[in-house]
Amino acid sequence: MAVSGSSERIVVRPGGPLAGRVRISGAKNSVLKIMAATCLAEGTYVLRRVPAITDVECMSDLLASMGMTVTRTAPDELTIVHPPNIVPEAPYELVERMRASIVVLGPLLARYGRARVALPGGDDFGPRPIDMHLRGLEELGAQFESSHGYIEATADQLVGTTIVLEFPSVGATENALMASVLATGTTVIENAAREPEISDLASFLNRMGADVKGAGSPTITIEGVGELAPVSHDVIPDRIEAATFLAALGIAGGEVLIDGARADHMEMFVQKSADMGIQIVATQDGLLATASQRLQAVDVSTLPYPGLATDYKPFFVAMLTTATGVGIVTENIFTGRFRYIDELVRMGADIRTEGHHAVVRGQQRLSGAPVRAHDIRAGAALVVAALGAEGETVVSDAEHIDRGYELFVEKLAGLGADIRRA
Ligand code: EPU
Repeated sequence: MAVSGSSERIVVRPGGPLAGRVRISGAKNSVLKIMAATCLAEGTYVLRRVPAITDVECMSDLLASMGMTVTRTAPDELTIVHPPNIVPEAPYELVERMRASIVVLGPLLARYGRARVALPGGDDFGPRPIDMHLRGLEELGAQFESSHGYIEATADQLVGTTIVLEFPSVGATENALMASVLATGTTVIENAAREPEISDLASFLNRMGADVKGAGSPTITIEGVGELAPVSHDVIPDRIEAATFLAALGIAGGEVLIDGARADHMEMFVQKSADMGIQIVATQDGLLATASQRLQAVDVSTLPYPGLATDYKPFFVAMLTTATGVGIVTENIFTGRFRYIDELVRMGADIRTEGHHAVVRGQQRLSGAPVRAHDIRAGAALVVAALGAEGETVVSDAEHIDRGYELFVEKLAGLGADIRRA
């Protein structure tokens, strides 16, 4: 793990085609919310398929700071004990390390009637407001005061209502969902986010005794219950990690089994990759993918699920840099999510950005260079791009990658890539 103040570096050299099998870990964006949901009931939870990544450590630290015990009881298993009388508070040091900490607000309010959570700041994608999270909880009856950088939330009893989200925000849907499971009466969330991670959270909540219907569709209906109980749960596979390895294959060529990947969670990615020339077949074990020629350019545009995820975008940009033709990439979710493009340009990529569009003109080859990871996906995309570049690439600030990828370097090396940590 990175020592604070130091920069982790990953060194990549071009190699031959990739071959073999890579096991996909549990979904970061699912497990973090399921960990937050353990605030809803006292007792002992066992979560399986939990990736060893820094964001999970961060959420573990947050739960521990409230008085819960989080232990890794097996390589991919976490045991969480929620004792009586935890302190429903998320301190600035932890929220600042990980914005997703804001999802403890809904479950803490529902269970304890109050919560004190530090306000998250912006990040490398630009401003990341939480207005929709707060509005949804307010409609359920919560009251907020903000002082000294903290939100103080209170609610004697949350009461079911209809919440219409202005945009299908993943985090706002999750906060409203986790708050409403213990509210009285019926809550309907309209224009809800439909990501597979929302469905995973809903199935966890239902197994705890909640009554949630429609998760995965734009309308989620929740009948409040009086009490929930702890359970065990297997987290779904990480579709973004799977996409990362598929992009690596697209760039390096070869044949790889993406073990555990679910085609039904990443249909749009599979479709677009096929248009670019990656053959992907769903098998009993995962996705068997082959790339045997230079990729062809396509246009991509990010949208809420089931549209093409914004988290896939850096991988499409990386693939387009050496594809034949020109691809136009449009970002519709996070307007500022283009910073890594400057790094790709340093590697010789021909990319022009205009507002929320990027025009990528494919080159025969990129040229290895020292580059910097600005966030989890951007960092991983630089590593992936480097697999096909001439000469050596050194990706610094690689601790960003460790926030969301378990054994990233080891997994790529296992497929034959020439990659190591400096
Ligand atoms: N938004 C608002 N107000 C809000 C909430 C969101 O304006 O109250 C805006 C955001 O600024 C953004 C859009 O709505 O423009 C969508 O944001 P959303 O709330 O859906 O994103 P999120 O919940 O903050 C999660 C993932 C991100 C992923 C996005 C979009 C987690 C921990 N994070 O973020 O994943 O990009 O959904 O799918 O689940 C990552 O894994 O590296 C990552 C950034």
